[in-house]
Amino acid sequence: MSDAERPSRASEAFFGRRKGKPLRERQAQHLETLLPELKVDLATPAPADITTLYDFKPTRMRLEIGFGGGEHLIHRAMEQPETGFIGVEPFVNSMAKLIGRVEDTGAKNIRLYDDDATVLLDWLPAASVDQIDLLYPDPWPKKKHWKRRFVSRVNLDRFARVLKPGGLFCFASDIDTYVNWTLMHCGAHPAFAWTAENAVDWLTPFAGWPGTRYEAKAKREGRGSAYLTFRRS
Ligand SMILES: C[S@@+](CC[C@H](N)C(=O)[O-])C[C@H]1O[C@@H](n2cnc3c(N)ncnc32)[C@H](O)[C@@H]1O
Repeated sequence: MSDAERPSRASEAFFGRRKGKPLRERQAQHLETLLPELKVDLATPAPADITTLYDFKPTRMRLEIGFGGGEHLIHRAMEQPETGFIGVEPFVNSMAKLIGRVEDTGAKNIRLYDDDATVLLDWLPAASVDQIDLLYPDPWPKKKHWKRRFVSRVNLDRFARVLKPGGLFCFASDIDTYVNWTLMHCGAHPAFAWTAENAVDWLTPFAGWPGTRYEAKAKREGRGSAYLTFRRS
């Protein structure tokens, strides 16, 4: 996408931490040797068919934004070996941990990006992805920070561009104001329709749900979660 075509940068940025405690030697080595092999190379134009990013031909493409500990990404990659996954996470320690899991499991269907997901979204070809997972995104609970939330009109425009017609946007959060915020933004967006038919739908985790680290933390702290699925028209 050219700069002229790029949407407003209003919500575009990574506001979290990039580094935590020092990496163990094996993790540092992974970042040096395995990340370059697994990383999507945004310095070159995206291939028209992004399934060519893999050594096999995936039947579906799925993008997980902010995979954190990576439990969900690894679980889904093992569960769906025919699907090509792109995992995005700017936090170095999480990326190093995930790469260790890719090595341990031998997963061949994961590609990675270690920076702000909006940059990857703008690189991806239109209508190239079947599903986007945004699971427990940073909540930014204070009202003055809501504009930092990943869900925004410009990012929904990005999702609408890269999702195939009929593709899914799956969102989970334990923060009521973020759940309402997402319902409001998707409700106002012409490309997205909420698939829920009754309250049970959005209180029930997605099929085959393994949980995530943030969800476990929310549960320990007594907060329930909402699981929202939107279909791109
Ligand atoms: C609250 S954590 C949730 C992690 C994981 N999904 C879970 O449920 O345990 C949010 C994650 O999103 C990542 N993140 C924040 N902004 C991002 C962005 N612009 N692009 C990609 N990832 C982002 C953070 O680094 C963090 O790991």
